[in-house]
Amino acid sequence: MRSNRRQSLLSAVALATVACAFALPLRGEGASDASTSQPAEQATPAVGPIAYYVAKCARCHGDVSAAYVGLEHPKTGKVLEQEIDDMASGPSQSPLDPEGLKQQTAMHEAMFRKTPFVWIDPNVKDRVAGEVLNGTTLTFETPAGPSAAPTVTENRFELPKQAGTLIAKRGEAVVRIPVR
Ligand code: HEC
Repeated sequence: MRSNRRQSLLSAVALATVACAFALPLRGEGASDASTSQPAEQATPAVGPIAYYVAKCARCHGDVSAAYVGLEHPKTGKVLEQEIDDMASGPSQSPLDPEGLKQQTAMHEAMFRKTPFVWIDPNVKDRVAGEVLNGTTLTFETPAGPSAAPTVTENRFELPKQAGTLIAKRGEAVVRIPVR
C-alpha cells in the first residue's frame, strides 16, 4: 500500500503544517455548506467529484471556491494526484478508485487554474446531468443552433436529453464537450 508511508507522515506533520495547506478555514466555517448541498429529494445521488470533495475534503480545505485561496504554488500533475490519493485514503478514509482519482485531480487543477470543470454523470441516462465547478458558465448548442442553457442548482446541472455540445466557460477558458 503506497499510501501507508505518506499517511503516517501526514499524521506526524499535519498539525504543524496547517499553514501550508490551501485555505484551511477554522473548523465549522464550512460545516453549513454540507447540509445545503444534499437536497432531501434528490432523484440522483450526488456522487461526482464535487459532491465527494464537499463531503470528504471541505471540512479541512474549505468550500470549493475557498480552497486554494492564497496558496501560490499548489501541487500539480502526478504529485497532486499522489497527494489526493493519500488524502482520500488517509484523513478522509474514503479511498478513490482510479477513475475517481483522475476526476478529483482534474477538478483540483481546475480549482486553482480557474479553468472550467464539468463532470457528466454516467448514471443519468434520461437527461444530460452532472456537476459543474463554481464560476463556470454553461451553454448548450445543438446542430440546429443554440438551445436552452442547462439549469444549475448548487453544483449540479441538468438539461433534457439531446445531442449537441456542452460549452463550459470560465474566464477566458472554454471547454467544448460533445454530448450524444
Ligand atoms: C483532517 C483534515 C484534512 C482532510 C479531511 C483533507 N485534508 Fe488535504 N491537507 C490537510 C493538511 C493539513 C494538508 C497540508 C499538509 C500536507 O500536505 O501533508 C493538506 C494538503 C492537501 C493538498 C496539498 C496542497 C498543496 O498543493 O500543497 C491537497 C491537494 C489536498 N490536501 C487534498 C485533499 C483532498 C482531495 C481531500 C479529500 C479527499 C483532503 N485533502 C482531505 C488536511 C486535510
